[in-house]
Amino acid sequence: MITYKKRYFFVVIIFFLQSQIIMAMPAIEREHTLMPIPKEILWDSGEFRLDESFRINVVGEAGDRTFKAATRALQRLSGRTGLFFEQDYITGINQSPEAGFELMCYRPGELKLGEDESYRLRISSREIILEAETELGLLHGLETWLQLLMADEEGYFFPVVLIEDEPRFPWRGLMIDVARHFQPVHVILQNIDAMAAVKMNVLHLHLSDDQGFRVESKAYPLLHEMGSDGNYFTQCQIHEIVSYAAERGIRVVPEFDMPSHTTSWFVGYPELSSKDTLYTIERSWGIKDPGMNPANEYTYAFLDTFIGEMASLFPDAYFHIGGDENNGKWWKKNPEIVAFIDSMGFETTHNLQAYFVKRVYEIVQKHNKLMIGWGEIYNPDLPQEVLIHFWSPRMKEMESILLNGYKGIVSNGYYLDYFRKTEYHYLLDPVRPEYISDSLAAQNILGGEAASWAEFVTQELTGLRIWPRTAAIAERFWSPANVRDVEDMYRRLEIVSIRLEEVGLDHLKNRDMMFRRLAGQRDISSLHVLAGVVEPLKNYSRHRAVDKKRYVQHAPLTRFVDAAWSDAPDARRFNMLVQKYIQQPTPELETEIRKMLQIWAENHKKLEPIINANPILWEIHTLSEDLSLSANIGLMVLDKKKSWRGVSSKDIDKYVQQLEEMKHIPGELSFQHLDALIALITA
Ligand code: ACM
Repeated sequence: MITYKKRYFFVVIIFFLQSQIIMAMPAIEREHTLMPIPKEILWDSGEFRLDESFRINVVGEAGDRTFKAATRALQRLSGRTGLFFEQDYITGINQSPEAGFELMCYRPGELKLGEDESYRLRISSREIILEAETELGLLHGLETWLQLLMADEEGYFFPVVLIEDEPRFPWRGLMIDVARHFQPVHVILQNIDAMAAVKMNVLHLHLSDDQGFRVESKAYPLLHEMGSDGNYFTQCQIHEIVSYAAERGIRVVPEFDMPSHTTSWFVGYPELSSKDTLYTIERSWGIKDPGMNPANEYTYAFLDTFIGEMASLFPDAYFHIGGDENNGKWWKKNPEIVAFIDSMGFETTHNLQAYFVKRVYEIVQKHNKLMIGWGEIYNPDLPQEVLIHFWSPRMKEMESILLNGYKGIVSNGYYLDYFRKTEYHYLLDPVRPEYISDSLAAQNILGGEAASWAEFVTQELTGLRIWPRTAAIAERFWSPANVRDVEDMYRRLEIVSIRLEEVGLDHLKNRDMMFRRLAGQRDISSLHVLAGVVEPLKNYSRHRAVDKKRYVQHAPLTRFVDAAWSDAPDARRFNMLVQKYIQQPTPELETEIRKMLQIWAENHKKLEPIINANPILWEIHTLSEDLSLSANIGLMVLDKKKSWRGVSSKDIDKYVQQLEEMKHIPGELSFQHLDALIALITA
């Protein structure tokens, strides 16, 4: 029998013989738009030309999941190229031995952590062969194949290439918080398609928090009836999400956060809580005092039934119990709980939290699930099968925890609600050198998750806060660790971002839509110009920027700042041009820089009437004015430097002072071009 590996070896040899390349010939490098970058790429000259007779054939052990994925891929190809392919629906029966593209795998594969996701894609000028151990590999290979499509004066083609690929980490997740603001099914499905397009494989749903309980429970219906404002997934909808994800090779891991972040549970079931009071759904953000009562057996009986119900609703092996940010304040105030702490000989509420986690672990295990929880759940009495989800707490202890034999995934550094630039996330490795030096510890990191907390995210914002940045994080989780070229990442990301709308995302069009609502019937291009240069305040400073109580669940998230990029694209381009110009001034670079400054200089004239006509925009008046002012300073200094009189250092100091002041403009946005502009005028 020819095994997969042997057959592959064979194919490689034949490929190289056929392709007539000689070892001495330099390999050609194509400027490609692959994201994530595959483990190995061997380019060769030549093209597989695409025409309407193109067909796909599926052989081997592939099944329904592959037929559907191949059909979707063919439809996307048709949509992108405008070609009217003859082939309609791809099945295992309707085989086309003459097809240009053959897919084959050796077994369907299981949707579980650590399953083989590798694939080999071979494109020659005559045929395309995608081969994988499992269907999961085929799905990834199809995405790579679609990303390879190119065009030239003769039409569309796929470049001749041999790709051998597999992920660096087996857990490549995206967490979507549907509790703080509910995200309906269609938003979740869009994100599943986008995840599949960049080879992510775990959708983690944060399903309950102080501000909402988002799944129908038949065992405890007051959870969703009283804790959700009517915004929850029915069990039927959960089935739909889980099977939609499974078809795309994505696991769904549910999280029910406990013992804290649980106010919404207590609205219907106050007897679960550690304080006897009336509860309403929490509307403000932050760490809250309510928590479950860990001293009451009722809590564990309730959780046994509840977790049992949810364990059968969500088929994945893992069950996330949250466990974060429990401040224990109300535990200390409840005499029964204090007596329990004493009777158990606990020294602090941390011991009580550990006791609670252990009890919940036993329940999770009883229902045949593996437990995962945020860093705070860790204590060395837990069995090693418990997976630790690292965020800020426990990062310093991460290495020792991993060396104790526990496995972990990392979200620290991948919080999308920090409004950080893509490159910040991209350059942070899950194996963070400041925390991990031991290779044994590194081996216990299974991957990571981008985290979309939703305090500032409504359904129309979900896409644009998550994407396209998460595509770069997906590359960090999939590609070899040495793939770290930031400029090239941004080049590819721009193209990937547009292609993500092909699979149904709305991250670019929703920004346009929001700007249209802000501008009324007027042209939105001047809003885009301003948005190209500013970003929302980073980390959590938006919460504090205006006044602490301003942001609550029902606050409007429809203002300019909400539609702003976390990664202002024009500022990035300007900063890059200036950096190059300072290193090596050329007339071409100066022209490019001047063009950008000119657009900014003229923008306020265009934007001001729109701002004046719409009170919702008044807050950006100074921002708009300052953008033009800053650009005029830049142009003026460039002009003066060219003139025979030059520019005095006193004048430069004055301009720098003015630009520095613009860094502290009140509000929730900050300019991203000022350092480069200051560098330009002082160079
Ligand atoms: C968390 O951010 N509280 C997990």
